[in-house]
Amino acid sequence: MAKRVGFATRLGAIAAAVGSAVGLGNIWRFPFEAGQNGGGAFIIVYIFCIIVMGIPVILSEFIIGRSTHSNMKAALKRLSPGKKYYLFTYICILGSFVVIGFYSVVCGWIIEYLYQAAIGGLNGHTPQEYNDMFSSLVADPWRCVGWTILFLLLNFLVMSRGIEKGIERVASTMMPMLFVILVIFCINSLLLPGASKGLEFLFYPDFSELTMRGVLDAFGQAFLSLSIGISCLVTYSSYFKDDACLSKDATIVAVLDTLVAILSGVMIFPAVFSFGVEPTAGPRLIFEVLPGIFQQMTGGYFWALLFFLLVFFASLTSTISLSEIPITFMIEEHKLSRPRAILWTSLLTLVLAVLAALSFNVLDDVKVFGKSIFDAMDYAASNVFMLLGGLFTAVYVGWILDRKVVHEQLTNGGRLKGRMEPFLIFCLRYVAPVSIFFIFLYLTGLI
Ligand code: PFF
Repeated sequence: MAKRVGFATRLGAIAAAVGSAVGLGNIWRFPFEAGQNGGGAFIIVYIFCIIVMGIPVILSEFIIGRSTHSNMKAALKRLSPGKKYYLFTYICILGSFVVIGFYSVVCGWIIEYLYQAAIGGLNGHTPQEYNDMFSSLVADPWRCVGWTILFLLLNFLVMSRGIEKGIERVASTMMPMLFVILVIFCINSLLLPGASKGLEFLFYPDFSELTMRGVLDAFGQAFLSLSIGISCLVTYSSYFKDDACLSKDATIVAVLDTLVAILSGVMIFPAVFSFGVEPTAGPRLIFEVLPGIFQQMTGGYFWALLFFLLVFFASLTSTISLSEIPITFMIEEHKLSRPRAILWTSLLTLVLAVLAALSFNVLDDVKVFGKSIFDAMDYAASNVFMLLGGLFTAVYVGWILDRKVVHEQLTNGGRLKGRMEPFLIFCLRYVAPVSIFFIFLYLTGLI
């Protein structure tokens, strides 16, 4: 069993969980999902989901992790001896590979834009040219795969040199910087001509624009963004100290993560409307819009560089935490050495990532359930793995796990009041399962 040490400080533990949560999900995916699903109404469903499912499932993962101080499989075996619930861990492992697979491609795009920003290539173009710039990147298999491999190599080096804690420390100072920069970009975006249309799109709820598929997307987005449903936070919280207040920490993670997502929306949508970009542009949305925002700013060259650098670090902390799911599992359950576990994880990810990168060019006619490989992985990650994983976690803690464990963890053995317990149990038992069940019935055409 690997030696387990607690986080040095309470802030360190929260910063690591926030580092995992804040990433491409907030900055790249949230704006385009909101754009494709009508804006305001999507955001209301998203926030509803964060409150009644997101926070309860974060807390559930914290309870499982801290009460056992072990990875998901060992935790489920310990909490439910003789039962087969631990098999769920394999779904988590599979889900984490799917997420890192398509994330690495987007991280590759971020490196390309960082490079373009450095050589001044993002300056002085029209919105159409920014559109073409992105199209030519994804159409070129060499560049697309090359950047993806470079990203995976960096991810591999960080983990195999054992400097992930260092990166997390760097990231926890960069995270506040990212926050400040987002605010600065939001202000710039809001000063663009026609910005108010973007705000209206983002905050005025037009429910006629929201489909049931949009509701599913909002739920999936919330789970992906909070890093829940595939046991990532179980691993993190297994290192938490016994005096951490779990409900407070879960709320802090959820609030900060949501704030970053909303700020990203406020940064992107006024510019979307001002530049005449389609809000439904999908995964290419931020890459078409951001260079235009930098261009309007004094010192745009440096802002662009700084922004992509910070997003790169935010992505790296997310992929490190994702990789840690299979790595910890291989080490603790299959007795692999850490270097071997890292190597296997990196190789498996590489295969998936290259397939996803090629699905924009060489493999663009290969369809999985009618979607490109990249889109299928993106969809499966959030709307299937994380959502169903979240459902399992909710049902497990709400219905199956001994209530004494829940009470112990929420009150730290009676030292805290644990006021959140009734809300938590109600959401886990009824709200989460019923909502997710109805969406699936609807999507499968049964209602
Ligand atoms: N929450 C991360 C993001 O928003 O980019 C993605 C993520 C990280 C998902 C870790 C799942 C996970 F286990």
